[in-house]
Amino acid sequence: MHKSVLITETIEGLALKKGDVVVDGTAGSGGHSFQIAKELDGNVKLYLFDMDEDALIRAEEKLKDTGAITEYVHSNFKDIKARLGKLSVTAIDKALFDLGLSSPQLDTSGRGFSFLRDEPLYMTMARDITPETLTAMDVVNTWGEENLADIIYGFGEERYSRRIAKAIVDMRMRKKIESTFQLVEAIKNAVPKSYLHGKIHPATKTFQAIRMAVNNELPSITQGVTDALEMLTKGGRCAVITFHSLEDRIIKNVFRDKAKEGTYILVTKKPIIPSKEETKENPRARSAKLRIIEKI
Ligand SMILES: C[S@@+](CC[C@H](N)C(=O)[O-])C[C@H]1O[C@@H](n2cnc3c(N)ncnc32)[C@H](O)[C@@H]1O
Repeated sequence: MHKSVLITETIEGLALKKGDVVVDGTAGSGGHSFQIAKELDGNVKLYLFDMDEDALIRAEEKLKDTGAITEYVHSNFKDIKARLGKLSVTAIDKALFDLGLSSPQLDTSGRGFSFLRDEPLYMTMARDITPETLTAMDVVNTWGEENLADIIYGFGEERYSRRIAKAIVDMRMRKKIESTFQLVEAIKNAVPKSYLHGKIHPATKTFQAIRMAVNNELPSITQGVTDALEMLTKGGRCAVITFHSLEDRIIKNVFRDKAKEGTYILVTKKPIIPSKEETKENPRARSAKLRIIEKI
């Protein structure tokens, strides 16, 4: 099961009102949306987006008895404006983005998102994998060493990026890299021994970086959040939960620029982070940051 992060803080921060039109850009298992519906006794219209169809099925099951009016949209949230437009929605009261992956995607998608499972190295969130779909297998087997090092450093903030890129290229010259465990082996071969026993698994940052490149994640976040902000009604709020510094920087900058325009105010000057109790109970929450903005 997916444990929703910063749920109380998000619900409070959205200042929900009965009758709100709410967009959940990242439905996942429906945890946040369920709580929103509960808070408003079902008096809410919810548009739930997710790129992953299985997530929408889980969310629908979770929300079915809440009384909320729901619409499930199988789409990247970067297309929020166009997809809502098709449904004749041009204004929304609240928007929520809880970025990253949900636990079932890591554990059961079979797509190679987790370095703890030996699976084919796809890492794509695309519904169907066709020969045209970019996968992590394409990235590690065909991208140049320098390019690999740049994305591992740029998206993963991995200090051993150059060594890891070289190890990937050395490995693929011997044999095509097709599985997560092959990639983990290349990473382990590249990094110093001390790094193998650090706080986080040595493959964490490289996996994150490759996943972000495969799914073109950062541009989608900028686009989706910017468009959601523009669709907000006066007094409308947008809450975003990020899980690493690059995502948080994007949100901080998008919010700051909007606040400078004078038509939005920051509800959170500093991001809200989970309590010690929450991180203890849910290690996935440890790097979460919540930022909220209001249209005035
Ligand atoms: C952390 S989970 C959300 C969990 C949810 N808030 C809950 O409480 O159950 C993030 C979800 O966002 C989806 N997602 C990530 N990037 C996306 C994008 N660009 N467009 C649409 N969905 C995306 C993932 O497929 C995943 O299901």
